[in-house]
Parts: sequence; structure tokens; C-alpha cells
Amino acid sequence: MITETLDLKITRTAHSRLAETDFNQLQFGHTFTDHMLVADYADGEWKNFQILPYGELSLLPSISALHYGQAFFEGLKAYKQQDGSVSVFRPDKNAARFNKSAQRLSMPEMPEDLFIQSVAALVDVERDWIPTADNHSLYIRPVMFATDPYLGVVASKTYKFVVLTCPVGPYFTKPLRVKFETQYTRAAEGGFGYAKAAGNYAGAMLPTRKAIEEGFDQMIWTDAKEHLYAEEMGAANVMFMIDGKLITPSTRDTILDGVTRDTVLALAHDMGIPVEERRVAISELVEGAKSGKLTDAFGAGTAATIAPIGTINYQGEDYKLSDPATREFSNKLFQTLNDIRYGRVSDTHGWNYKV
Ligand code: PLP
Ligand code: COI
Repeated sequence: MITETLDLKITRTAHSRLAETDFNQLQFGHTFTDHMLVADYADGEWKNFQILPYGELSLLPSISALHYGQAFFEGLKAYKQQDGSVSVFRPDKNAARFNKSAQRLSMPEMPEDLFIQSVAALVDVERDWIPTADNHSLYIRPVMFATDPYLGVVASKTYKFVVLTCPVGPYFTKPLRVKFETQYTRAAEGGFGYAKAAGNYAGAMLPTRKAIEEGFDQMIWTDAKEHLYAEEMGAANVMFMIDGKLITPSTRDTILDGVTRDTVLALAHDMGIPVEERRVAISELVEGAKSGKLTDAFGAGTAATIAPIGTINYQGEDYKLSDPATREFSNKLFQTLNDIRYGRVSDTHGWNYKV
């Protein structure tokens, strides 16, 4: 880890929107806090770190991010702890993944300390915006994009880094009906599915819209080659409990190495649950659903948290799984995860970064 100290200018808004924000009506990603953090990359270094009132940026229409998609983002959350303090959940993991995405897209890395301090500084300014209700938090969205006003197909020399924050409640509010997607592909070997590239999400929009039109809540992406193996669930990792073992697709080029995924695997280990990270065949899941051996299934992600899957659909056939309310593992897991994030139990893994 490269260590650097953040040189930051803070300009506060004269008119906070906090008092007029209804925290009971939060829709994911619609409500932004009063401020944002912006920084520039030029001449080989990150500079001009500023916290400013949330608002418009002035950009040329020729910037290469708009044409060639040199853009990626991160997603993490800050929580108000039971004792009133504020912590960000595992920002070191996001800082490391930020740089993995940057490398793959030929964009500049950011010293991990600068990333973490940027996030923490903005959260500190916005601490009054962190909701306190259960399953609520402050979603943090760092993004980097290319700003050279040039149409040559080469990596930009200049970039902008922006961090936004949004108070959020639960992303999914009911068990999901998901289909295995066997026509479209999210990511292929040698591609950049493991990066949080904006283009991965653009490519998912049409298949997701079609799945929703067909009556599904989400899809489970399958491997690009044969469409026989489960990979991820929408914008989350996917996990299954079969015969008492927690099984999840192993990370590779096509799979985002989720912070929640890693956290769940560590908590499963704490609970003494055997874990298998490997390829997961759709046939195994369908068989498990038929025999009742598939006792738990859920998406795991920062926005999604732990999102129970109620029904899986393969080749037009629905397979209903057990009632999510009765599932021992995922309910206990979600409770433990929330207890740690909200500071209700001791943070033995050192996951809460105090702001
Ligand atoms: N997979 C994809 C494609 C995602 O967009 C996300 C969301 O960030 C995840 C997995 C879960 O990752 P994390 O737990 O780090 O949020
Ligand atoms: C996240 O969980 O942070 C994500 O990035 C998912 C998002 C695309 C809604």
C-alpha cells in the first residue's frame, strides 16, 4: 500500500437539503447529500482534492469517457453505530479493487490511503445524512472517468475522480424470482467482468429489462462459453447452501470479487459452515431445488446486502425454494453482518473503519 496524506479543500454549502429530505421515502440512488468530493489526475499525479456542494461539473462533449467508456466505479457504505459513531465498512477492499479496475482499463491507480481518506473525509462532512433505521446506511459511490477532449482511441492522460454519497434503505424488499440467463453474456474470459467498469453495466441493461418484462426480478448470469454454470446475480455475487455447504462461484476474469462475498465467506467460516468456491452447475442447483437439498440461495452485494432468492427459473420452468423467512443460515448471517456494521457486537475482524 502506498501511503499519502490527503491535501483537501472543503467548501460547504450555504443551503443544506437535509431538513427537507424524507428518510422514509428513500429510493436507491435518487437522493444525494449536500456535498461531493472531486479530484483531478494530470501530469502523472492526483491533485486538487476538494469537497464542494453537490452540483454540476463542467465537461467537454469530446471527453473520451463518453466515447470509449474509460470509466469505472466503486460502491461501499457508511453506518451510524449504536454508540453514535460513524464507520465505513471495509474501505481498504474497495480501494484495492478500485486499482484492479484502473489497471484493466488502462487508467491511473490511486494510492489506497488517498482513496480511503477521500471517502472518509466526505462521510465526515455528511455524517448527519447517515440514516439510523435498520437496513439503512449511507451509500458511497466513487467513480473515475477519462477527461481528455480527444477522439483518438488511446488511454486518456487526464481523469476525474468523484465521490458521491446517498442515504439508502433496502435495495430489494421481497424474495427474488430469478432466471438463469442463457442468451446474453455479462462477461467472457479475457474480458473485464472482474472490473467495476461502467460498460459492464451498460451491457446488462437490455437483458435485465427483458428479464423484468418476462416477470423476473433479476437474472443469474451464466458462463459465456456454455451457459451451464452460474456466475453472478445481477449486480451481486450469488451463493447457495447445498447439503449444509455454502457454495459460490470461484472468482475469475468474469466475476467481480465482491467485498460482501468475502465477508460472507469469513462469517460462514466463523460459524463452522464448510465453504466451497468452485464452478456451480445450473443442473446441480435445479437438482438441489427438486430434492430439497438446496436449502438457501441469495445474492450478496453492497447495495443488495443479503438478497434472498425465492424462485429459480431454468428453461422456462420455475423451481420454488424454501420460504426465506425459515432459512437458518442466511437469516443468521444477515443478523450477524448487521450487528457488526451497526456496532452491536464487537468487530473482531476489524472491518469497521472509524470516521
Ligand atoms: N458483482 C457485481 C457485478 C456487482 O456490481 C457487485 C456490486 O458491487 C457485486 C458483485 C458485489 O460486490 P460488493 O459486495 O463488493 O458490493
Ligand atoms: C453495489 O452494490 O455497490 C453496486 O455497485 C450495485 C449497483 C450497480 C447498484
